Amino acid sequence: MTTKVFLLKREALKPGEVTRVELSGCPLAVYNVEGRFYATHDICTHATASLSEGEIVDGDLIACPVHDGTFHIPSGQAMGHPCTVDLRTYRVFEDAEDVYVDLESEAEEASSAI
Ligand code: FES
Repeated sequence: MTTKVFLLKREALKPGEVTRVELSGCPLAVYNVEGRFYATHDICTHATASLSEGEIVDGDLIACPVHDGTFHIPSGQAMGHPCTVDLRTYRVFEDAEDVYVDLESEAEEASSAI
């Protein structure tokens, strides 16, 4: 079953930007990667750090602001030291104006789809 929840307006996040959105007590990092939107859990799997305070690098990687580990945004895959545990992803839906998320589903690109 798909449960779409409103995340943000498309115009609120420009390409190359990441922001934090909290939904039902769940902190999400929401990304605009070259016009396509993605959402992952906001907390780094290495230690306690908010990935939405990090930077999008090399096109589709998020660099953690604390130890500079990296994750592939579309799949959540841990890519760079010291991160070894993949990041939880969430399925995102877009229409012409708005972006929605399904907290029950992983992104199609997820390396560990449930
Ligand atoms: S807390 Fe993110 S890489 Fe260490």
